[in-house]
Amino acid sequence: MSENQNQNPEGEEMTTQAAASSSLASISSENLGKRAPGTKPLGAGLEARGVHAWFGKHHALANVSLDFSAGTVTALIGPSGCGKSTFIRTLNRMHEFIPSAAMAGEVLLDGKDVYAAGTDVTKIRLQIGMVFQKPNPFPSMTIGENVLSGIKLAQLKVENKDDLLEECLVRAGLWKEVKDRLGAHAGGLSGGQQQRLCIARSLAVKPKVLLMDEPCSALDPGSTLRIEDTINELSSSMTIIIVTHNMQQAARVSDYTAFFLSEGGPGQMIEVAPTSEIFSRPRDKRTENYVSGRFG
Ligand SMILES: Nc1ncnc2c1ncn2[C@@H]1O[C@H](COP(=O)(O)OP(=O)(O)OP(=O)(O)O)[C@@H](O)[C@H]1O
Ligand SMILES: [Mg+2]
Repeated sequence: MSENQNQNPEGEEMTTQAAASSSLASISSENLGKRAPGTKPLGAGLEARGVHAWFGKHHALANVSLDFSAGTVTALIGPSGCGKSTFIRTLNRMHEFIPSAAMAGEVLLDGKDVYAAGTDVTKIRLQIGMVFQKPNPFPSMTIGENVLSGIKLAQLKVENKDDLLEECLVRAGLWKEVKDRLGAHAGGLSGGQQQRLCIARSLAVKPKVLLMDEPCSALDPGSTLRIEDTINELSSSMTIIIVTHNMQQAARVSDYTAFFLSEGGPGQMIEVAPTSEIFSRPRDKRTENYVSGRFG
């Protein structure tokens, strides 16, 4: 929530809304070609079909269908309260932990409904990891223990824990900064380092999909760019879904962008398209108004 939507990388205010969205489109186009989404044999990806969510009688989300191809990064954007967090919590069955919460619809991981009867929810959460807005490492555990905590909890067998530890910290872009203090408490890391530690912790259980709910909103610009680099690196080996209020970030990291909106009723997915299209020629007027900063 706290990030500016209408600032260019130098931090200057954009003079016109048109300039803002055309610059976002060009950032996104520059990004194209850096990665080749979906070219690795990563499975079928994730698919939401007709997802609805309720909190008690409050219908928070209506009929969202979205396809996340394996190896792509999708940004979810939209004004506060339109259901972005609710939606991503339905994807790994976190939603059902909220008292009074209900959902309808299907979420297919590699073609199999994660809500099918008899599905082991713990296994689903290992395959679909999540990184939250506020970094949440275990502060009294060491850095190393944090990374391996998911492995321990799920009682997964690992041949060489030191190798896994290094691999996850390298992939999360934190290895160089912590390699000499793996035994130090995680609470002593900066906010940006803690967030990368949480990413490393998610990676240790080898998820197919990583859900990120505003992972940079509490971070300074330097840490934000570092996490965006991490997302770019990770996207060759997994499917990533990121909620962001920062249009520049959506333009920099994502292949596809989905715009959510609630117009007095439940939140809906208004439009999804390749990110450069969402910023240059959105089909829906409401998307255009939002990405050009006219509301939200
Ligand atoms: N735990 C909850 N209990 C009851 N209602 C909730 C709960 N969480 C969210 N809601 C409601 O569901 C709707 C969607 O909220 P959600 O948090 O998904 O929005 P969001 O798009 O993530 O917003 P933001 O950008 O502010 O994070 C809102 O009306 C919100 O008040
Ligand atoms: Mg949210």
